[in-house]
Amino acid sequence: MPKLFTLTRRLSACASLVREGASLIDIGTDHGYLPIWLFKSGKISKAIAADIGEGPLLSAKTNAKKYEADLECILSDGFKNINGNSFDTAVIAGMGGELISKILSEAPFEIDESKTFILQPMTAAKELREYLYKEGYSILTESTLKDMGKIYSVMKVQKLNKNEACDETYFYMGKIEPFTNESEAYALKVINSLNNKIKGYEHKGDAEGINKTYELINKIKEKYLK
Ligand SMILES: C[S@@+](CC[C@H](N)C(=O)[O-])C[C@H]1O[C@@H](n2cnc3c(N)ncnc32)[C@H](O)[C@@H]1O
Repeated sequence: MPKLFTLTRRLSACASLVREGASLIDIGTDHGYLPIWLFKSGKISKAIAADIGEGPLLSAKTNAKKYEADLECILSDGFKNINGNSFDTAVIAGMGGELISKILSEAPFEIDESKTFILQPMTAAKELREYLYKEGYSILTESTLKDMGKIYSVMKVQKLNKNEACDETYFYMGKIEPFTNESEAYALKVINSLNNKIKGYEHKGDAEGINKTYELINKIKEKYLK
């Protein structure tokens, strides 16, 4: 058997949020690296890889064979072909925030606090946090990571149906801890996108939009930049 590969920083950040002994499903697994790595490292008790595409699933199967990992591979659009009792932890990584929300909303089983989700949006993290908040999910922990020159967030969430108090910055910054180099880089990325939003408001002559967005930028600066 070949030597086990190293995970990318992005997948490694997802792996670090998985609890020891979890029954894991990786939705949109592609190559299957995350569940194979977690299984081979002994961190999880069960590994399922699911993907909407036959090509990616074949790649996951081939890699599982190569690294001798006991990986169940299921062709599925999101959770549609997945038995809700077959896992306690699901990773949905490397997709846009809107697609992640859609996958959660279309799950054919009830989601409750017995399940943990590790979500890693490539784009639209704010829209994902808004969806999670509206649907009663709590972000338990969230961190930022730099991979291939880009900055991302990865969050661990559970549907606790608690109406947590949050301010306006929550949807932009989630539960990211302030004052680390990476969280500052994430805050700067958010501020940059808000500055672009201001340009749009300027173009439309929307003074209220401009003022509100500047206020938001100042709150993010106060909270997250040294
Ligand atoms: C960019 S890859 C991400 C692979 C891996 N999760 C990662 O983070 O590196 C996205 C994968 O999600 C799969 N995918 C897209 N939509 C999906 C859906 N609705 N259900 C399951 N898989 C999906 C694609 O086929 C592709 O293999």
